[in-house]
Amino acid sequence: MTSTELPVGPMDPTRDDRKSAPLAAQRVHADPGARVIGNFRLGRAILRSGQMLQAGAGSEQMKKGGDFGPVFFLDGDIHRQRRTAIARYFTPRAISTRHRLVMERTSDELLTRMQANGGGQLDELSYKLAVAVAAEIVGLTDSDQAGMARRIQATLLGTRLRGMHPVVRIPAQAVTAVHALRFFSRDVRPAIRSRRLERRDDVISHLIDEGYPDKAILIECMTYAVAGMVTTREFIVMAAWHLFDNDALRARFAAGDDADQTAILEEILRLEPVAAMLHRRASGNAELGTDSAKEGELLAVNIRAANVDPETVGECPHALDPDRAERMKVVGSFMSFGDGSHRCPGAQVAISETRVFLDRLLRLPDLKLERTPDMTWCDGLMSYELRGARVSCARA
Ligand code: HEM
Repeated sequence: MTSTELPVGPMDPTRDDRKSAPLAAQRVHADPGARVIGNFRLGRAILRSGQMLQAGAGSEQMKKGGDFGPVFFLDGDIHRQRRTAIARYFTPRAISTRHRLVMERTSDELLTRMQANGGGQLDELSYKLAVAVAAEIVGLTDSDQAGMARRIQATLLGTRLRGMHPVVRIPAQAVTAVHALRFFSRDVRPAIRSRRLERRDDVISHLIDEGYPDKAILIECMTYAVAGMVTTREFIVMAAWHLFDNDALRARFAAGDDADQTAILEEILRLEPVAAMLHRRASGNAELGTDSAKEGELLAVNIRAANVDPETVGECPHALDPDRAERMKVVGSFMSFGDGSHRCPGAQVAISETRVFLDRLLRLPDLKLERTPDMTWCDGLMSYELRGARVSCARA
């Protein structure tokens, strides 16, 4: 839907500003046997419960990694210790000092090159930015970054294997293993080597301190590639698309301070969450407020449904209203970054980099969205993908 107005006063209850909802309605599904929860309060109780363990895709296999598994798949005390140890890379201070510099420098480089060409493709720009920012946090800084972005992209074939026929999947698994090996030898191993010589302040240095074997470090790097790079690439394009489509929203974003720009982006993410389902398994009989779960039960928290639950988000849940969160006294991204012990540590990083990039992009002279993105669906990641959006601007 194209719109030139922000909701003011009584909203239209039929208004639906979501772009990804029709495709998500066809494609989002829970794992077999899971009880799906769309109620925000119950979803939050599940994600906050100490008895509900991570059960996301691949977790059974990943949990075999024991204490050296990726943070995403750990639970309990070991997970708490890991989160405490990495929290320092994600503090507001780390963002406003260290990471902000990478966001600004990379955005400037990308947009200067784009201006020289008179335009560019949005998902290519957003991917390069997301790779640069996450690479610095992880410590993947000892190889050529453009090449690394391509190598990571190649390993992501693995996320598409889930729905494939075995005839295609088995050779594809072999190809993915080759790409993962290449990512390891060209990017991860050089980063490990240089940090063994001289420790730095990043995730890989921390994993070396903890005695992680090289293979486990590779797997953690791939987790960050999916969790931090791929998600942010999609979100930046989605946010840009909403801003191009809605003149009033774009004007408010351009004039807004950090807090207002953040509120706008979080509200876009509420309507268009990149992650759709979070799975948890009950380790024992669990009390969940007014509900409960039996030992061994698999629950799937439907983020898309929780984010439009009128009880929590208020009236006209499908309308884009940047003042909603403040009015409802709720965290602006609602459940888009999860909740509880696994809540996304990179939430503020993702919003900040999107803000820094879009603020600069929208200031370019004669900026136009020449081609809207094609929207497809990735079953492995249970997420929308936006490709081929082209913007043009005055050449400089
Ligand atoms: C718009 C962008 C992003 C979205 C929508 C997003 C969403 C999420 C969600 C929903 C979770 C919770 C998973 C669960 O509970 O099972 C999560 C976890 C995680 N995210 Fe993000 N994320 C984004 C960006 C980032 C960035 C930029 C980084 C790092 C640079 C990052 C790193 C992580 C990690 C390491 C976890 C696992 C945490 C744990 O299990 O304890 N994410 N993310």
